[in-house]
Amino acid sequence: MQAEAVFTKDAQDYDQSRRGLIPCFEDFYGAAIQALPFDREDPVHFLDLGAGTGLLSEMVLESFPGSTVTLIDASDAMLGRARERLVNHDGRTRFVTADYRAFEADSPFDAIVSALSIHHFAGRAKARLFARAWNLLRPGGMFVNADQVCGADGETENAYRRHWFGSVRERVSGEELLRSLDRLQADRMSTLEEQLNWLREAGFDRVATWFQNFSFVVYSGRRP
Ligand SMILES: C[S@@+](CC[C@H](N)C(=O)[O-])C[C@H]1O[C@@H](n2cnc3c(N)ncnc32)[C@H](O)[C@@H]1O
Repeated sequence: MQAEAVFTKDAQDYDQSRRGLIPCFEDFYGAAIQALPFDREDPVHFLDLGAGTGLLSEMVLESFPGSTVTLIDASDAMLGRARERLVNHDGRTRFVTADYRAFEADSPFDAIVSALSIHHFAGRAKARLFARAWNLLRPGGMFVNADQVCGADGETENAYRRHWFGSVRERVSGEELLRSLDRLQADRMSTLEEQLNWLREAGFDRVATWFQNFSFVVYSGRRP
């Protein structure tokens, strides 16, 4: 099943399970915001890839009150939740239901953010997406991805999985855990090192990692 179909099916319950399913929720999303090199009042134009129900976009809008955010997601059901969530930010948001791999913009963005979406693409498809992100940014623009990675070897990967399962099994219902395991089928993880290298290959500089908690990472690159 395609990632957007998996999320369309679960859109209704998506938000209430997030804190339970992401053991380091506050620090993870917090690092993505803190990695953004802007002053609070700057009129920054953001693009949120795989924006879903608008979780990350809401944090961006609240952290940077002078900003606007274009939310793109292939699932209309997920974006429908985002519209409801962001109703108080009317005038600062734009919603696009589309596959972001084919997205073209009229003008470049100051920053592109993404959370827990890009790990749905296998290996080089991530590299192609990073090249596309580079093209959508203005010179000096920043790309920040908060996502999951796989371990560089089997033992590390097993440790990531054990840690995740041990952390979440007491925090969510059995039903939610099963739904989440079902969604894992759509994951196509790559290692952190591979992804940092693909960013450099795409032309990004100042490639940096801001956060890691087992499989959860936040990294960025800047278009020179
Ligand atoms: C786990 S959700 C993350 C949502 C949100 N960023 C968050 O942090 O809660 C992943 C989202 O990526 C979207 N997605 C996956 N592949 C996509 C694609 N090729 N184009 C647009 N959206 C995509 C899915 O529809 C889903 O809403």
